[in-house]
Amino acid sequence: MTIRAVTGLLVILSLLVATSAGAAEFKLKLPPGLQEQAAFIPETNPPTPEKIALGKQFFWDKRWSKSGTVACVSCHQPDHGWTDPQTFSTNFEGKPTPRRAPTIVNRLFSDRQLWTGLRASLEDQAKNDGNRSDDTVVAHLGAVPAYQAQHRQVFGRDLDADGVAQAIASYVRTILSGNAPYDRFKAGDKSGMSASAQRGLALFEGKAGCVRCHAGFNFTDEGYRNIGVGMDQDKPDLGRFIVTKNEADRGTFKTPTLREVAKRSPYMHDGSEKTLADVVAFYNKGGVKNPSLSSDVRPLGLTTPEQADLVEFMKALSGEIDAEVGRPPALPK
Ligand code: HEC
Ligand code: HEC
Repeated sequence: MTIRAVTGLLVILSLLVATSAGAAEFKLKLPPGLQEQAAFIPETNPPTPEKIALGKQFFWDKRWSKSGTVACVSCHQPDHGWTDPQTFSTNFEGKPTPRRAPTIVNRLFSDRQLWTGLRASLEDQAKNDGNRSDDTVVAHLGAVPAYQAQHRQVFGRDLDADGVAQAIASYVRTILSGNAPYDRFKAGDKSGMSASAQRGLALFEGKAGCVRCHAGFNFTDEGYRNIGVGMDQDKPDLGRFIVTKNEADRGTFKTPTLREVAKRSPYMHDGSEKTLADVVAFYNKGGVKNPSLSSDVRPLGLTTPEQADLVEFMKALSGEIDAEVGRPPALPK
């Protein structure tokens, strides 16, 4: 084990220590490679260990949904990169979701949520998810004495829909991936990443231009772009345009983080690319032509070995997520 890897372990351990310590001194600790100053936490919802623990239970509890058949974890599964192995998830009515569930790792660094940025924050997302309603959340979760007790301790009032959403959002902010081979390489461990992945990094930042959108330590600038996915359909999903009605947003979708990307196929908002090699081939041909295509998407002229190197690089973005964060909690009766 390298010195860097040991350091990574220590940082994650201190998250566990912080979690069991008192609320007063609580501070999120990040795995190596992530930047604390980029974190987005609303002042109205400071995290505490008790709040995060409560949110984690709600995340797993199917009583959260109107029908009692789905929970957050049904569609955002820890062992599939926090997405769903099904291209489209099954919602509370047993119907497929219109878009693919995106990953929810490293949402700490994002204010607006959803492929279209419809929701202003994680709190807004959790409060307005279509699988639940305020009434059913209060009726189902509020009927559980242990939830009432925890909610009163955390928020000082009986369980309500805002408290449930705030607790869930606080938990989602702890789903953090860092200390990937890429991070160890960046920190100076030249053996941290394979030679192929290193060539892939150079292409990512250079000839392939991926970094124009998948920028920074979290491999996204959180911007909305039209790369053409689905734009050849009869009635294409117009993405962020539906929210803003700005012409410039026609067919744009949020640029996803590429951390943990190798674990969560299929890809894109419609699941239309099955593998990372398919994704690279999609970019290599210049996306899908349409009048609103981003000028940053154009045929790349990558050779077959270069395409393989890009895939190797993306695999080097799978890192460490604190095992405790993804371990199913015991749910109260
Ligand atoms: C039935 C499946 C399903 C359930 C249940 C579900 N989600 Fe999602 N989630 C989705 C889909 C699909 C999207 C994308 C929707 C869109 O963009 O139009 C999404 C988007 C998100 C996003 C946006 C991520 C980003 O990068 O923009 C977050 C955060 C999220 N969900 C968290 C949660 C939480 C927390 C819960 C429980 C409170 C939850 N989800 C329940 C399917 C689900
Ligand atoms: C113009 C901005 C832009 C550029 C350049 C770009 N991407 Fe993307 N990328 C996006 C957007 C936006 C999406 C989501 C599109 C959708 O689902 O409709 C995306 C999606 C992806 C996904 C799927 C992730 C997931 O969770 O489904 C991968 C993988 C990916 N890009 C890799 C790359 C690689 C590799 C390159 C360089 C060859 C690249 N991107 C260049 C904006 C960009």
